[in-house]
Amino acid sequence: MIEKTLSIIKPDAVERNLVDEIKKIFTENNLNIKDSKKIHISKEEAAEFYKVHQSKPFYDALCSYLSSGPIFVMILEGKNAISENRRIMGATNPKDADPNTIRKLYGISIDKNSVHGSDSLDNAKKEINFFFKN
Ligand code: CMP
Repeated sequence: MIEKTLSIIKPDAVERNLVDEIKKIFTENNLNIKDSKKIHISKEEAAEFYKVHQSKPFYDALCSYLSSGPIFVMILEGKNAISENRRIMGATNPKDADPNTIRKLYGISIDKNSVHGSDSLDNAKKEINFFFKN
């Protein structure tokens, strides 16, 4: 099924000038970038975006981190885009990620894991709408 999903290149990767390399990995894997922008969100916006994690012990640090510097957000479109994006990103913890995945190649730690991707169709719709309201 042709789907759309949201991808975020996180502050650690933007700071290291990895945006073009990461975009190339997506497009080489048949995920087309339909829209994109570089932004710097507030901690309040990060808290809203990651609301699903609000009961987790790492929530506050996660929101501080996502708002600590510019991020690059993209709408990716392609066949099975949600699962394909997650396959291409690799496991949440770079230590556990498969070879040649983005998180294995560029992730620094479970917090600074370079990219975020929507985990379901429902969340993809919500997350795309969060950053790209019409
Ligand atoms: P992301 O895919 O952006 O979704 C939530 C983020 O929380 C996750 O990537 C990690 O960067 C971060 N995180 C920090 N600690 C943990 C943890 N123990 N388990 C899962 N995610 C964590």
